[in-house]
Amino acid sequence: MITVNNVTKRYNKSDLVVKGVSFSVDKGQIFGLLGPNGAGKTTLMQMIATLLKPTSGLVTICGLDSQGSAQEIRRKIGFLTTEIKLDPLSTPNQLYHFFSELYDIPKEEVEARKMAQFQRFGIHPFADKKIVELSTGMKQKISIVISLIHNPDVIIFDEPTNGLDILTSRQVMDYLLELKEQGKSVLLSTHIFSVAEQLCDEIAILVDGRIVDQGSAVALTEKTQSKNFEEAFFKLYTEYHVGG
Ligand SMILES: Nc1ncnc2c1ncn2[C@@H]1O[C@H](COP(=O)(O)OP(=O)(O)O)[C@@H](O)[C@H]1O
Ligand SMILES: [Mg+2]
Repeated sequence: MITVNNVTKRYNKSDLVVKGVSFSVDKGQIFGLLGPNGAGKTTLMQMIATLLKPTSGLVTICGLDSQGSAQEIRRKIGFLTTEIKLDPLSTPNQLYHFFSELYDIPKEEVEARKMAQFQRFGIHPFADKKIVELSTGMKQKISIVISLIHNPDVIIFDEPTNGLDILTSRQVMDYLLELKEQGKSVLLSTHIFSVAEQLCDEIAILVDGRIVDQGSAVALTEKTQSKNFEEAFFKLYTEYHVGG
């Protein structure tokens, strides 16, 4: 569903921040990019979501080339990034209706879908409050609901549990597992190894713009002869990070 082939990125005249990354994400799979701050996760996710142009390399989504078919791809993906901010003076209700229209969701379906999603995430008591008055966790849950308003088959979430308390984080993680069960392809990035370990079928460890190893949490733990996945991650990071 997603293929990334030898992708690089340079900002202006900077050094490469993404250095020849390749991987693919299948239907019904959760694929995780795990790496510390500055590893290149957001840059990579934005290129895959067609918001940023790769310096070289190729990304395809559902067989479509991300360069030629950006508009078409945006209708097929649900994208959540750490950079997007909800309009602070709108309410969840207003935002939901605005994006439903943008994505041509049939009018008769909008209300039922909104109710189901708002209830699942406990948004309904806040549906008519301004975004600016809501907690970080509530804003994140609203962003997630809106990013999936068009029921996309491909889900690209950049640090979806960033800054959330453990309960909200759990809610988001359970939802991602449910989407996987529905056969969606999920690509997520995180710097939290436990999120990757609990959710992902396949984990790529990203260090300084490069995938230094890839596999299930169990496979990576065994391969590095570690006691647990946390140790495996630290071993790989120390081995490959320039300057130790
Ligand atoms: N718009 C930008 N212009 C120049 N450099 C950038 C820009 N965005 C990110 N970078 C640099 O690219 C590298 C990777 O950043 P980023 O993709 O945000 O990593 P991550 O999401 O893993 O923290 C960092 O060194 C960062 O400083
Ligand atoms: Mg980031």
